[in-house]
Amino acid sequence: MSNATPSAQFQKVFGRAPEIVTRAPGRIEFIGNHTDYNGGTVLGASIDRGVTVALAKRTDGKRNFYSTYNGKTVTLEAGAPVKQSGEASWTNYPLGVLAALPHFGQSVIEGFDYYADSDLPAGAGLSSSAAIELASALAFLGATGQHPDRETVVKIGKHAENHFVGVPCGILDQGVSGFGKAGHLVFIDCAGPRFDTVPMPAGASFWIFNTHTKHALVDGLYSARHRECMAAAQALGVKWLVDVSVDQLRAAEAKIEPTAFKRARHVVEEIARVDATVKALGAGKIAEVGALLTASHRSSQHLFENSTEELDFLVDALVASTGVYGARLTGGGFGGAVMALAGPSFGAAQAEAVAAAYAAKFGARPDILPMGTGDGAKVL
Ligand code: GLA
Repeated sequence: MSNATPSAQFQKVFGRAPEIVTRAPGRIEFIGNHTDYNGGTVLGASIDRGVTVALAKRTDGKRNFYSTYNGKTVTLEAGAPVKQSGEASWTNYPLGVLAALPHFGQSVIEGFDYYADSDLPAGAGLSSSAAIELASALAFLGATGQHPDRETVVKIGKHAENHFVGVPCGILDQGVSGFGKAGHLVFIDCAGPRFDTVPMPAGASFWIFNTHTKHALVDGLYSARHRECMAAAQALGVKWLVDVSVDQLRAAEAKIEPTAFKRARHVVEEIARVDATVKALGAGKIAEVGALLTASHRSSQHLFENSTEELDFLVDALVASTGVYGARLTGGGFGGAVMALAGPSFGAAQAEAVAAAYAAKFGARPDILPMGTGDGAKVL
C-alpha cells in the first residue's frame, strides 16, 4: 500500500490528475458459511481496509491498468475484454466489470488510465476481489456519468466474478462491500436479495488471524461444494437449499447421497444459526452470538469439510482464551483466516499467545490483524 494520496500517486504514474477516485472495503464473513448461493441468509462486516481506484479517460482507445501490488502497468486495447493470465491476471476483476456493464444496461468506457491500490492482505479471506470489483465499477460508471443504484453495482461485481473470473460465488462479498456501514453488520437475505444493517454489539471487536495457508485446489473445491449443494437441492426437489427446513432435510436423508447430505445439513443448519444470531444480537446476548459463531466453525470442520488443521487449531486456541466470545473460519475456507469476536479483556498479549502456540506447532506465525468496521463502496 502506498502512503501518498491516490490522486498524487495517479499523477506520478500517469502524469495527470484522475477524474474520479473510488474506494470499496473488504469484508469479514461474520456467520452464514456457504449459505449465499443456496438462497440463505448471511451476516458480514465491511472492514476499514479495502481497495482504492483512480481513473481518467483516454481518447486513444488504450486501457492502462497500474497496480501498486507489483508497480507495473498492463496495457490493453479497448473492445471486448479478453481474459488475462500470469502477471496480468489481476486485471480480470476490472475487465470482468467492463464485460458485465452491458448486461445491466450500462455503457462501457473505452480507453482509460486506471490505478489500483490496496491495504487488504490478499489470500486472507477478506475478499479483495469484491473490493476491486466494486471500486472499479464505481469508477467506470462515475467517469461516464452513470449512477445506477447500489444493488445494481453489487450485482455488476457479482456478475464479473461469476461470468468472467469464473467463480460461482453468491452475493455475500459484493453485497457487504456495497452495503457496509461503519459500526454495523450487513444482513443479506440472498434469495431476494434484500440488504439490511444490524448494529455491532457494543464493546466487541474483530480479530483476524491469517494463516497464509491456501489449499492448492481452493477454487475447484469451492465449485465442488457448490455442485454438492445443488445436487442435494435437486434430490430434494427444491430450487435451492433455503427451501427446506432442518426437519424436512432430516426426514429426506435416504434420498440424498451421503456426502451431499452432509453439505446440505451444514447449509440448512447454518441458515438457522444466522437467524438465531440476528435475534441474539437484537437482544444483546453476546455470549450466545459467540457460541453460534463457534458452532458454525464446528459445522464447517465436520460437515462441510472446508476447514483445515491450521484453522481448527486457531479456533480451539481462541475459544480457550479469556475474552473471546467465539471464533470461526471466515470466507470460503480451505485455508485463509480465522475470525474471533472478542471483548475488551482480549488484547494484543492474548492474541500474541495464540500466535505463538500456532507457530510452535506449524513453524510459521499467523498475521494478527485487529479489524475495525468501515463504510461500504463509495466515490471519494
Ligand atoms: C466466498 C464466496 C462467497 C461465499 C463464501 C462462503 O467468500 O465468494 O460468495 O460463498 O465464500 O460463505
